[in-house]
Amino acid sequence: MTTPRIFITRRIPADKLAQVRQYCQVDLWDEELPPPHQALLEHVQGVEAILCLLTDRMDAEVMDTAGPQLKVISNCAVGYDNIVVAEATRRGIPVGNTPGVLTDTTADFAFALLMAAARRVVEGDAFTRAGKWKTWGLTQLLGQDVTGATLGIIGFGRIGKGMAKRAQGFDMRVLYFDPVIQDDPYAAEVGAQNTDLDTLLRQADFVSVHTPLSKETYHLIGEEALVKMKPTATLINTARGPVVDPDALYHALKDGRISCAALDVTDPEPVPPDHPLLTLQNLIITPHIASASVETRGKMIQMSIDNLLAGLRGERLPNCVNPEVYASK
Ligand code: DGY
Repeated sequence: MTTPRIFITRRIPADKLAQVRQYCQVDLWDEELPPPHQALLEHVQGVEAILCLLTDRMDAEVMDTAGPQLKVISNCAVGYDNIVVAEATRRGIPVGNTPGVLTDTTADFAFALLMAAARRVVEGDAFTRAGKWKTWGLTQLLGQDVTGATLGIIGFGRIGKGMAKRAQGFDMRVLYFDPVIQDDPYAAEVGAQNTDLDTLLRQADFVSVHTPLSKETYHLIGEEALVKMKPTATLINTARGPVVDPDALYHALKDGRISCAALDVTDPEPVPPDHPLLTLQNLIITPHIASASVETRGKMIQMSIDNLLAGLRGERLPNCVNPEVYASK
């Protein structure tokens, strides 16, 4: 039996690479930046497996270019909107992802953004470094209280639930909206109340987005949603950038129709350095790092390797987003 050829679309830690090399002939894109489209097409030709990141679009062209021997696509992320899963399923290719291991790390970060935006932590730091701290000021850098406020969670999956759990510690009233999960027993445990999107937007002091990106959620938070929010409200997005319409958000923040926002994800991503959003003081933007802890990223890489190796062996992936591929096998 020949050693399977695989393509890994980005630099991974040496110990993890060594692990894969025990079983595979690895073509590694040994860079910080993703392979450009043409390079991606060149490198996937004839491979049996692809280990990719959320920045690599895996569509019909990539799958066709790879060829019929492609056995598995393993995404090193829980979200998989970069993969045209229907195309993979049509070809019988299982797609792997990394659910669970990043839930707490991501919810921690979403809550950190909530706190930082509410209490103007980033502005305070910039103010101090700029030499503007002259005295203790009674009305200096006033923010919003978190304790006792209302948190609106859009998307009550694992990370949304993690937010609700954290909010308990701050005596927050928690509302959630999820088009699929309406009656979740966990909601009662953390005192979260199911509601419609409209009520959530009108009542929440903090709106935190935790929904996957899909046709239905694209620009879910746009002009129409933003006008419903309180002028004192804060928007947090750690899910996917395109769930929030960046132009509508820019105008809402600039015109003071909402108080502030904190984004770990943007549309487009990365946010261009001359994007108007970057001119705003009432906005925090971080570079999609909500799951970026040493431990969690290590677990994500390991899970994606486990998925990849299982796929190469013809075994069921430990975490598969399109299990229907096994129905016909
Ligand atoms: C994911 O895994 O989908 C996250 O966005 C990475 O942090």
